[in-house]
Parts: sequence; structure tokens; C-alpha cells
Amino acid sequence: MERKPIKDDIEIILKRAVEEAVTAADSESLENWKTKYLGRKGEINGLFSRLSEFSAEERKDAGARINDLKNKLEGIYGERKEGMAEKRRSANLSFPGKSPSIGALHPVTIVTREMTAIFAEMGFGIASGPEIETDYYNFEALNIPAEHPSKDVWDTFYVSEKDKILLRTHTSPVQVRIMEKTSPPFRVVAVGKCFRKDDVDSTHSPVFHQMEGLMVDEGINFSHLKGVLTHFITRMFGDSVKVKFTPSFFPFTEPSAEVSMSCNICKGGGCSTCHKTGYIEVLGCGMVHPQVFRNVGYDAEKFTGFAFGMGIERLAIIKFGITDIRYFYQNDIRFIGQFS
Ligand code: PHE
Repeated sequence: MERKPIKDDIEIILKRAVEEAVTAADSESLENWKTKYLGRKGEINGLFSRLSEFSAEERKDAGARINDLKNKLEGIYGERKEGMAEKRRSANLSFPGKSPSIGALHPVTIVTREMTAIFAEMGFGIASGPEIETDYYNFEALNIPAEHPSKDVWDTFYVSEKDKILLRTHTSPVQVRIMEKTSPPFRVVAVGKCFRKDDVDSTHSPVFHQMEGLMVDEGINFSHLKGVLTHFITRMFGDSVKVKFTPSFFPFTEPSAEVSMSCNICKGGGCSTCHKTGYIEVLGCGMVHPQVFRNVGYDAEKFTGFAFGMGIERLAIIKFGITDIRYFYQNDIRFIGQFS
């Protein structure tokens, strides 16, 4: 049988080994290369083990050729290894590294956390309720009857008009859900998305966030409401801020009030955010209407309480001096990444 000359094999192996050594990109692949060719079970030793097939004379020549190949490969290994070490040494260590990119919290999240932290300091718990509500929780139970004109303010999107299932227009239905499950005394805040059939402009969005607050006990009166909300606003915006309570109307509170704070953008001087009045309206509030207590089965003679509701975006706009509510929802990293 004609044996393939070992000379040819040696040439093929050399060619392949050189190609592979050149493409070995790092020291790990270079070490793998070394094992493959020069290792104990490597290709060189494979060639040596074939020597027994040869006659004594052929063996001498073949042995010399294999040794020559081995020396060449060891040389290549040494050169590549040194080349890699040199490359590492010459790397400029003072060159700035790649800093990992760390995300930022959305301004609505930042403000929500700050608000809940302030109420937590005052002993308020945290609750939540569904975004898809029934007409009963969003309106009826809150003393807003079907044909009442005040319902216009809370025009919404219906999931099923027939079944009276809708997207909640405010977080006030959470008040009812909490009271149905809890006996006084308690104080709690609830944050979440609300929906209104508003056209989008710089101050309106059909989806926005509110925080609701509710405190019920025996003997709660309007001064508790004033104290808690004044503390909240000054804690959030600083002691120099002036807080103003103005009479208002909500079907589920009586008496009701709107709370404004001195504009911290123009410091009361008059700017476009405060419509040149020096004050910005921040929330609605009032003493819980006795009818709401009766709707949840509370003794309206025994318990009193206060409730408030405020827009989170509105507070973020004031806090960060943002000029357009639409920025919150456009997912533009240049905008949402700049707050902390
Ligand atoms: N739910 C009211 C609104 O969205 C705000 C409010 C809440 C007023 C609680 C009084 C008490 O306008």
C-alpha cells in the first residue's frame, strides 16, 4: 500500500498552524492553539508516533522534519505571545474607561416617591385601586348622580357604556374601596393613573397621575386638613412658599377647597405658569361628605374625615420648572433622563 509521504502532512500542518496562530485574537485562543499543536496529545506528538511505521533510514529524515516543524511552531508561539504582551504594555492606561450608562427615574416617579415619603412621615399608609372602574365607584358612591352637571368635569372613556365600566377620571374611587374594607381610624394615600376625555395641549393630557389622600377618625376637622396639606406643600417646596385655601365645590366633600401655593417659578411676581396671578393651584380637598360615609356604611354622626386629590404631573411641573405636560410622555431620553 502506498503511504502518504509524511513530508506532505508536515507542510499541510505548518500552513494550517500558521494561519490559525495569526488569527488567534487573545491569549486564551493562543493557549488553545498551543495545546492543539504542541500539547501532549497534539498534532506534533501525533506525527512522532507515526515514526514506527517507517524504516530506520526513512525514520531519520522524517524525525528531523518533524523536529523542524516543532521548532517552527514553538517559535511562532513565542512571537505571538510576546506580541500580545507588548500590545498590553503599550495600552494607554490613563485613557478614560467606558463608564456604564445608568438609567434615571422618570420625573413622575421621582415626585411620586417624594410625595409618598412626606405622607409616610406623617403616618399615612399607601393604597391603590383599579384604573378600570365602574360608574358606581367613580361617580355614584362619591355622591355624583347620573344627571348631575358636575359629572361633565369628569368626562371619560368607557370600556363598556352598557355595563357602566370606564377608565377612572380621578383617584377618588380608591377612597370608597378603602372605606368598604377598613374601619376608622386610618390615614392613607393612593397614587395612580387617571383618564379624561381632554384634548392634548401644554397643560392637558388624557392620561395623567393623581395622588389621593384620606384620613378618617372621630373628631377630625378642617384644621387637621389645613395642617397636613400646609406641612406637605412646605416640606415639598420649602418654608418660604405661601399656601392659600380657597372655597370650592366637589360633590363628595363639604366644605370643599382648592389649595394654591405661591408660584416658585416667578416667586410671586407673575409668569406664564401661574397665569400672572403669582399663585398656582395644586389640589382639591375637603371634609368627606356625610353621604359618602353613608354609602360605605359608616356612622356619619360618629366619624369625620378629610380627603384631597392632586395631579402628580402638576407638582412635577412646578418642582422642575417644566413648561409642557407633553414632555412627560414622549419618552425622549434627553428630557426624562435629566432629573434626580
Ligand atoms: N377627585 C378630585 C378631582 O379629581 C379632587 C379631590 C379629591 C377633591 C378629594 C376633593 C377631595 O378633581
